[in-house]
Amino acid sequence: MTSIVRNQWYVAAYGREVGREVFGRTICGESILFWRREDGSATAMSDRCVHRRFPLSEKPSHLVGDTVVCGYHGFTYDADGTCVAVPGQTRVPRTARLKSYPVVEQDSFVWVFIGDDDRSDTVPIPRAPWLDQEGYTTVSGMEPLAARASLLVDNLMDLSHETYLHGGYIGTPEVANTPITTEVDEDAQVVYVSRHMDDADCPPFYAKSTGIEGRIVRWQDIEFHPPCLYLLHSRVAPVGTLPNEDGTDPGGFHVEVVYAITPETEHSTHDFWAVARDFALEDEGVSDFLRESNRTVVLQDVVALDALERVLAGEPDGYQELSINIDTGGLAARRIMAAQAAAGAEQVPESPAALAR
Ligand code: FES
Ligand SMILES: [Fe+2]
Repeated sequence: MTSIVRNQWYVAAYGREVGREVFGRTICGESILFWRREDGSATAMSDRCVHRRFPLSEKPSHLVGDTVVCGYHGFTYDADGTCVAVPGQTRVPRTARLKSYPVVEQDSFVWVFIGDDDRSDTVPIPRAPWLDQEGYTTVSGMEPLAARASLLVDNLMDLSHETYLHGGYIGTPEVANTPITTEVDEDAQVVYVSRHMDDADCPPFYAKSTGIEGRIVRWQDIEFHPPCLYLLHSRVAPVGTLPNEDGTDPGGFHVEVVYAITPETEHSTHDFWAVARDFALEDEGVSDFLRESNRTVVLQDVVALDALERVLAGEPDGYQELSINIDTGGLAARRIMAAQAAAGAEQVPESPAALAR
């Protein structure tokens, strides 16, 4: 059975990736074409021409006004996927239509709904407002992962690995040594994992970006919206500096680390990452440093998770794991995602062949 959760919104791209050029990306095993209409709105449809399945994202396929023209024999589709012209005849076959996908642009992301379109209104899209908000500066990117999405979820839910895998960047001994608290909001389907370090080494990622010298208060508050969006609310401040009782926090530096986790296939993932900060807003040097550092950290995870995927592919079914306290958040996320996958799978219409039986 598939581990991919269907009937869900996923981040397909950054808004900046979609423009007046055809652009293809595989999401949850579906090849999807993205482009913008002349009014600037984004649209998504199957990336396979109904004629002979030529990819519409492949040159010489191209846009003409608000239509896309297949680069092989010229079938032409409008922005909702309806075929409006075919070569050599005036009659367009009634069934000539590409599947189109619901699309929403929000928080700098292009979200696409994978599943039964008529359910898209009933599934909320989690928010990451800092990525597109006054008072924050954001750096971001996407790295392809040759590993299943659940491995990235495991990785992000347990940050004790920072100490070992990301030593010298974001890891210090206190991360692995400080216990976590985990909470699950079953109704909202959110998993929270918190680790508050009151007296910790300041890793280079924060020392160089904030200018703090010496030891720090370091809070990591994770908020995961399975299966697709992970938020890490990170607060650092000089040791002893806490927020005011009214919640204001002039002495703290806040970094919102966002990951959108989008399955490409069962065994590969689009790893979208973004780092938004509320300090040094105009400082290009800080932006360059955080972009480079975070990308390096993400690539350290990519190397580890790709290795893990290769290992797991060769393991017999039912291989054993051994979980400890640090895994509590990851296990909660797995449980919710398994339930979501089962519920989503029930909604997937059977294939015509199966229905005919
Ligand atoms: S494959 Fe697209 S027009 Fe023939
Ligand atoms: Fe990591």
